[in-house]
Amino acid sequence: MCGIVGYIGTRDAYPILMKGLARLEYRGYDSAGVVLLSDHTFNLYKKAGKVSELDAFTKGKNTSGTIGIGHTRWATHGVPNDTNAHPHLSNSGKLALIHNGIIENYATLKEQLTKKGYHFKSETDTEVLVNFIEEVKIQGNLNLEDAIRTALNEIIGAYAIVVMDIDNPDVLIAARKGSPLVVGIGKNEFFVASDASPIIEYTKNVVYLDDKEYAVLHRNGDFTIHTLGNVQMTPFVQELQMDLEAIEKGGFDHFMLKEIYEQPRALVDSIRGRVNAEDGWIKLGGVEEYLNRILKANRYIITACGTSYHAGLLGEYLIEDLSRIPVEVEFASEFRYRNPIIYNDDVVLAISQSGETADTLAAIEIAKERQALVYGICNVIGSSIARATHAGSYTHAGPEIGVASTKAFSTQVVLLILWALQIAEKKGSISTSYLRRILFELESIPKKIEEILKQNDAIREIAYKFHNAENFLYLGRGYNYPVAMEGALKLKEISYIHAEGYPAAEMKHGPIALIDEQMPVVVLATNESAREKIVSNIQEVKARKGQIIAVINEGDEEIRAMADYAIEIPSTEEILTPLLTVVPLQLLSYHIAVMRGANVDQPRNLAKSVTVE
Ligand code: M6R
Repeated sequence: MCGIVGYIGTRDAYPILMKGLARLEYRGYDSAGVVLLSDHTFNLYKKAGKVSELDAFTKGKNTSGTIGIGHTRWATHGVPNDTNAHPHLSNSGKLALIHNGIIENYATLKEQLTKKGYHFKSETDTEVLVNFIEEVKIQGNLNLEDAIRTALNEIIGAYAIVVMDIDNPDVLIAARKGSPLVVGIGKNEFFVASDASPIIEYTKNVVYLDDKEYAVLHRNGDFTIHTLGNVQMTPFVQELQMDLEAIEKGGFDHFMLKEIYEQPRALVDSIRGRVNAEDGWIKLGGVEEYLNRILKANRYIITACGTSYHAGLLGEYLIEDLSRIPVEVEFASEFRYRNPIIYNDDVVLAISQSGETADTLAAIEIAKERQALVYGICNVIGSSIARATHAGSYTHAGPEIGVASTKAFSTQVVLLILWALQIAEKKGSISTSYLRRILFELESIPKKIEEILKQNDAIREIAYKFHNAENFLYLGRGYNYPVAMEGALKLKEISYIHAEGYPAAEMKHGPIALIDEQMPVVVLATNESAREKIVSNIQEVKARKGQIIAVINEGDEEIRAMADYAIEIPSTEEILTPLLTVVPLQLLSYHIAVMRGANVDQPRNLAKSVTVE
């Protein structure tokens, strides 16, 4: 989704802004722009397309200035074109503004401003906002800070904004409500961005703005943070834990491939310090803190979107299987709008890689209003969801840049396995010997993923056979059903091939009609408990000339012989299987997308963190 970068200090702002925008490309965008202030003039450049096109466009033009703001736009109001791209200037040309989010009352404000003689070049809500601030400033004879605060108190919607004023060339003002914003603190310089990736190169000291807060950043190094209610806050300066290497490709062609290969390390990090297989214990800090309430709950509700929702489905299987507590899983977008029944003794688990997904945040607010305990499972440290929940656990996957979620999924699943086991152990619904056995096996999973990654070349060959397919079907049973859904999502989002994930038994209730010699069917055939049934499913597909790509347990010659292509995974405990079966599906999607010439890391129309409804 849109990306924000701002700089004020002593260096040339332009290269900092452009590098920052390039680092935010992963969020998804369709146009980009920068504005620099020098000699009491705004130099504004905006272009539909990539950041590199903007850079080419500015060649030979005046890009001087030690204060500036830049933006990558993911269109909401108005098509992606040069005019709708940010930054936007006010009618007087004195204010410049960039904005992430949606101003819900923009139409009313636009009408009021139009009546007062304001005109608008773009179709955006952002241009309305910058003019509204200008109008408030002029009418109230206010300074920039007071005008922004007063105006924002009238705004309905979500935003992160950064504002520059020709008359205040030594000040940058940044504000947020519902959209993330982080301020990097250097020596007599400040950086502002949607996330830490544009900042990490220059400073590790950052302040994450809270909702309804704004920062006033002065070129002399002073800064203040206030709430929109005009209460001054004491800034909480934190040290960033990530390093530059973590957000670069490290020799891989794409971030997605790098992140697939990072899974063994990511899993080790997500387990580290939380389990002791020898002694048979698990400690998730957040669970310990609210243990009584979690154990007393009659029901858990898991809510999330996309890949995180698929991890949530696995959470349902795990928790019900191990602890016998009922679980409901729901898309956050449905949960927030359908007037769900939530009891005050419910526990709601919200899962999100980015921690910024608008639907998931809204679902959390509803759950909190109804007094449920809300537990977050997030990857991005300090993210909005991590802060909005009562308790939670980080997945520790490290920065995930590719839009297609990979290592975030597997670490979410690890967290849900630990959650389910910890609750089950406390409830006494599993034995210590079983717990120890699973924990020892969990510790061996990173090595087993490495074994699967060694089959990359073979998986690429399978991808080659099918990269021109128009449809794909993914089938799985039990713990492999959510993985089938995830495999289908991975393929469709990066290769644009239509793909469906189904519980294998559902095939005969409809999807079987689709099967002919053109239809590749990926069958996750590793569950020993449902072996006979999976064998039958494969035969049903073969009888209709479908092409079988089977993911099988190593040494399973029977299913290998039935399949057209087979990918082996090392054997493991059934509840841990998804951590292995998902890996070949990620690689298969990746290679197919590359062969089709798709933009793997930034698929069309998609954003990494979906901060609008
Ligand atoms: O950041 P979140 O986990 O909340 O994001 C949820 C979905 O937007 C995300 O998983 C999306 O489906 C990915 N593109 C899947 O690869």
